Amino acid sequence: MARLHVVSGKGGTGKTTVAAALALALTRGGRRVLLVEVEGRQGIAQLFDRAPLDYAERKLTVGPSGGDLFGLAVDPEEALLEYLELFYNLRRAGSALRRMGAIDFATTIAPGMRDVLLTGKVKEAVTRGRRGGPQYDAVVLDAPPTGRIVRFLNVNTEVAGLAKMGPVRTQADSVMALIRSPQTVVHLVTVLEEMPVQETIDGIADLRATDLPVGAVIVNMTRDPLLSRAALAQARRGRLGTEALIRGLAAAGLDAPDDLVHGLVQEATEHAARVAVEEDERRALSGLGRPTYELPLIADGVDVGALFTLADRLSRQGAA
Ligand SMILES: Nc1ncnc2c1ncn2[C@@H]1O[C@H](COP(=O)(O)OP(=O)(O)OP(=O)(O)O)[C@@H](O)[C@H]1O
Ligand SMILES: [Mg+2]
Repeated sequence: MARLHVVSGKGGTGKTTVAAALALALTRGGRRVLLVEVEGRQGIAQLFDRAPLDYAERKLTVGPSGGDLFGLAVDPEEALLEYLELFYNLRRAGSALRRMGAIDFATTIAPGMRDVLLTGKVKEAVTRGRRGGPQYDAVVLDAPPTGRIVRFLNVNTEVAGLAKMGPVRTQADSVMALIRSPQTVVHLVTVLEEMPVQETIDGIADLRATDLPVGAVIVNMTRDPLLSRAALAQARRGRLGTEALIRGLAAAGLDAPDDLVHGLVQEATEHAARVAVEEDERRALSGLGRPTYELPLIADGVDVGALFTLADRLSRQGAA
């Protein structure tokens, strides 16, 4: 059973939202779940309507059926200080380094270094014990987008290649061991449009090529068709009859001037074309052979209540 759920996908498709909903769903049965972000954007705090998270795990909410959800915004600077302390007992030296700006330097100039620290902290949270068991039953990572995910997760392999021994090597090896173990899965979020779906297909190929564990595909912001299958087929062929439309307008107490009817037919045709594209994209995704879950577009925007709705959808589909 996976304990580290890494959520990636094309930018803007809903990684942060889906990671939060998945984390909430995973609290089911009284479990303790940690939601982690690593890009310094305070996305979790915003989503849960909280003050910005500092480098400490904070309880965000109680899950839909008990269980607790915690949040953590990992900061590379703090992760470096923790790392220096852990391996070299250098916390005080770390503060001096910070004053000198050396930490800023190390964490912004060397992106690989940054990712080593971030993944190291995630691993620490996943493996941390508490009263004979792990502190968290599951950890959900709001991860970098598809274009950067393989590099991000594999960064410790590069380090392992450079450092032949010593604590850095041990740490890098243990992070990679976790990421490549059955305890880790990488889920990809997409929407039903050509580019994000293509990015999902390519992303899965990249993950597989580097032996990283692929989890589910989560299709976000889906919309139900507004017309029947028959009407969609007619609209697609530009043969949508206007009589039913005019009758509908009359039933709603509206006049049916030609330009209104024409405009509505046009909209129906565009809608039908979009539904057809969505069906093609769905087919392409189902060809990937991964479990696929769908989450609806929430018309009023995503607030905490909507996160519970999305979590419930994931649970009902067996995602968590
Ligand atoms: N199911 C949904 N229904 C309605 N709005 C949604 C849904 N999922 C996400 N959104 C909205 O879409 C926008 C992008 O979502 P989110 O921030 O989760 O994406 P992201 O992939 O994390 O973006 P980024 O690449 O910038 O990190 C946000 O405004 C969010 O509220
Ligand atoms: Mg995000």
